[in-house]
Amino acid sequence: MLSYSLQAGAFIIAGLLFILALAGLSKHETSKRGNVLGCVGMAVALVVTVLATQLGVAGSGGTERSGGLPASWGLAAILAPMLIGAGIGVFRALRVEMTGMPELIALFHSFVGLAAVLVGWVSYLEGAPAVNAGLHYGELFVGVFIGAVTFTGSIIAYLKLSAKMKSAPLALPHHNVLNLAAIVAFVGLTVWFVILPADQHVGAPGAAGGGVVGIMLLSAMTVVALALGLHLVAAIGGGDMPVVVSMLNSYSGWAAAAAGFTLGNDLLIITGALVGSSGAYLSYIMCRAMNRSFISVIAGGFGSDGLVVGEAKDYGEHRETNAADVADLLANSSSVVIAPGYGMAVAQAQGAVAELTAKLRAKGVDVRFAIHPVAGRLPGHMNVLLAEAKVPYDIVFEMDEINDDFPDVDVVLVIGANDTVNPAALDDPSSPIAGMPVLHVWEAGQVIVFKRSMATGYAGVQNPLFFNDNTAMLFGDAKTRVQDINQNL
Ligand code: TAP
Repeated sequence: MLSYSLQAGAFIIAGLLFILALAGLSKHETSKRGNVLGCVGMAVALVVTVLATQLGVAGSGGTERSGGLPASWGLAAILAPMLIGAGIGVFRALRVEMTGMPELIALFHSFVGLAAVLVGWVSYLEGAPAVNAGLHYGELFVGVFIGAVTFTGSIIAYLKLSAKMKSAPLALPHHNVLNLAAIVAFVGLTVWFVILPADQHVGAPGAAGGGVVGIMLLSAMTVVALALGLHLVAAIGGGDMPVVVSMLNSYSGWAAAAAGFTLGNDLLIITGALVGSSGAYLSYIMCRAMNRSFISVIAGGFGSDGLVVGEAKDYGEHRETNAADVADLLANSSSVVIAPGYGMAVAQAQGAVAELTAKLRAKGVDVRFAIHPVAGRLPGHMNVLLAEAKVPYDIVFEMDEINDDFPDVDVVLVIGANDTVNPAALDDPSSPIAGMPVLHVWEAGQVIVFKRSMATGYAGVQNPLFFNDNTAMLFGDAKTRVQDINQNL
């Protein structure tokens, strides 16, 4: 038998390690340490939870339900699925490309949501505790709701991020009314479920029909929540997906916290709350960076009516250039800014870009990087790639730090960026990315755009920048083209 104080002590240590992990992850320099601390905390949490489940917990004051598993379930019944899950996780994590991380994360969030739904359902079918049954029913109902919204919402996010589904927003007629109706139905069903007479719930002595009414209410709410999750995320357009990913991260945390209440597991409550609140704060930062209202994104595109993908416009002819000419231009410049985007990640061009930076700096050219908050497909995606290529931190600037400097810059190299340098966000109110702050690269003397074609970026909108007089297109794979320039320098 595991003593309650030993379990509580281990949970506090794991909780502290999780907090230190989050603190470490807030800076490049300490992020590896943060990851290690998080892994150690999770190992402590897993070992203690498995032991408590197997051995039972003494003197817990009745808070634990971890001993609820039938005694016939041995350690193997817990370890086998854990090992299979861990094996699949390691297999996927080792193979995933950096560009595939957002969809993998979205898929992981969907598992957390599904787990919360299953925990809630199993807990209901096991029957209510003798005391505080109403509270138990309430927390279980809310947990299943958050879990189901997270589950289907994350699957849609996965499909959109992996381009298996159109990233354009789904605009059903009266979509705000549909969302509101789902929330009202959830509140009504919750109240009904909690005040339902005990003999109509599963597990009550002499329950009429084995708790059919309770099961029907829980089923109805689960269906409403699954549909709401689908609709909330389907209604959000491509450009706003970064906010959705961090918001689903937050939902998955709250779903885990709700499962923690249902299971009476304090650490799950703490961990879920940490993930939920840090995800909510990240969503808030992303919303500010993209000039979006937090409430409107949570409400699934609320207020985005009228933002439809703009009609194809004729912007005129674009101009092409070649690596030798760009090398000449750079060698004769005194100030260069590099604006990297998703294409740099796809091409894995960061090493070549770091070499180009070093060569230009050796010639006395002032080289800086301009990082848009949602460049790439992950928060901090470009910073991670540049750090990996050992680009010095002090020449890497966030959008707000560098946006006013472009008029004094000779040349901007836009390497695989598109939406994040699109002036239509400022000039065209009908654009799906209208209002999103962008890098003002067009204010520089010359702009060179590295991409393979005239295709649109993630939001699916054409970029008028490519047709400006001071813009030239350098077509081809970004890594190959940067290497060509390096050879010419
Ligand atoms: P995007 O708008 O996605 O454009 C990337 C460009 O890279 C494309 O136009 C593509 O053009 C080019 N490209 C792709 N592969 C290339 C290669 N091998 N060599 C050269 N060019 C290549 O990029 P962005 O400016 O970084 O914007 C990010 C977008 O993703 C935003 O809309 C943002 O909202 C969204 N998003 C961001 C996140 C986060 S958290 N950062 C998460 C989800 C979504 P070609 O095909 O013609 O080469």
